[in-house]
Amino acid sequence: MLSIAPMLELTDRHFRYLARLLTKETLLYTEMITTGAILHNKPEKFLEYNKEEHPIALQLAGSSPQDLAKCAKIGEDFGYDEINLNCGCPSERVQSGMFGACLMNKPALVAECINEMQNAVKIPVSVKTRIGIDNNDSFEFFLNFVETIAETGCKYFIIHARKAWLKGLSPKENRTIPPLNYETVFKLKGIHPNWNVVINGGVKNLDEARELLKKVNGVMIGRAAYETPLILAGEKPPTPADIIEKYLPYAETQFKKGVPPNIITRHLMGLFHGMPGAKKYRSLLSKPDFSTLHSIIGRQQLCT
Ligand SMILES: Cc1cc2nc3c(=O)[nH]c(=O)nc-3n(C[C@H](O)[C@H](O)[C@H](O)COP(=O)(O)O)c2cc1C
Repeated sequence: MLSIAPMLELTDRHFRYLARLLTKETLLYTEMITTGAILHNKPEKFLEYNKEEHPIALQLAGSSPQDLAKCAKIGEDFGYDEINLNCGCPSERVQSGMFGACLMNKPALVAECINEMQNAVKIPVSVKTRIGIDNNDSFEFFLNFVETIAETGCKYFIIHARKAWLKGLSPKENRTIPPLNYETVFKLKGIHPNWNVVINGGVKNLDEARELLKKVNGVMIGRAAYETPLILAGEKPPTPADIIEKYLPYAETQFKKGVPPNIITRHLMGLFHGMPGAKKYRSLLSKPDFSTLHSIIGRQQLCT
C-alpha cells in the first residue's frame, strides 16, 4: 500500500485534491493537527476536506490520552478513514507542547494515548514514529517503544527510517542529516511479520516503492510526492495541462468560497518540475488568476 506523508503547510486539502487526480488508491494524510487546535476552535476549520480525498487519514499531535480520544472520535465523525498519532516531529515548538518525536521517550504514555484513541473509534489507529531520538538510538530502544504500544493491540506503524535530534537540528535538517536506516524497519518486520509496517524516508518514485513493498506492508512518500507529483501517476503520467484542466473547476469553486488564489495554485508548481520552461510556469502560478490557468492549459496543449 502506498501513502502520501503528512506535511505541515503542504498536504492541505487543496494539495490532497490535486494528488487524488493523479492517484486513486493512495492513502492521503492530513497535515499534523494538534488536539488543542481541534478542541479550542470550530473543528471544521481544521478538519473539513473534499469527499474525493478518500481514503484519507487524520494525523493528530498531542499527548493527553483524553484529548486525543476526543479528537479521534471527532475525526471519525468527520468521516476520516484512519487516525494517526505523530511521534516523529522533532520541532522545538512541538517539544514544548510535549508531542511529536519527544514522545519516543515516553512509551507508556503513548500506549495509554493509543489505547484511549482505539477505545473511542472503530477506524484504524496508527503511529508515525522515528527509529530513535538523540542518543536513544539502539534497536532495543526502538523495539521497546513499538512493542509497548503494540500491547494495546495497535500493530500499525509508519516508520520514518532515521532518528531525530531533539536539540541542535532544525526540522528540515532532521529530515536529511541523520542517515536513513531501512534495515531497522526490515528487522522489525522480521520480528513481527504480522504487524502492518510502513516504511518512510527518501523514497523518490514508484519503482523504489515497489521494491520496498517486497519487504514491508506499505511505503509512505513525502517530499517527492509534493515536489514531483507526476511520479504518483505511474508509467504514463498525464501532462500538467491535463491535470490543471481537471483541477480548474475545483479551483474556481474554491475561489468563489473566498480561498485566496495562491493558496490553491501554489500546489501546481511541482507539476512542471524538470520541464522546459518550468521557471516561467512557476512565476505565472505565483500571481495566479483564472486566465493564468487557462493560458497554461493552452500553452501546454501547444507543446504536446
Ligand atoms: C514541509 C514538511 C512538513 C512536514 N510535516 C509533518 C507533519 O506534519 N507530520 C509528520 O508526521 N511528518 C511531517 N513531515 C515529515 C514527513 O511526513 C516525512 O516523514 C519526511 O519528509 C520523510 O519522508 P520523505 O523523505 O519521503 O519526504 C514533514 C515533512 C516536510 C518536508
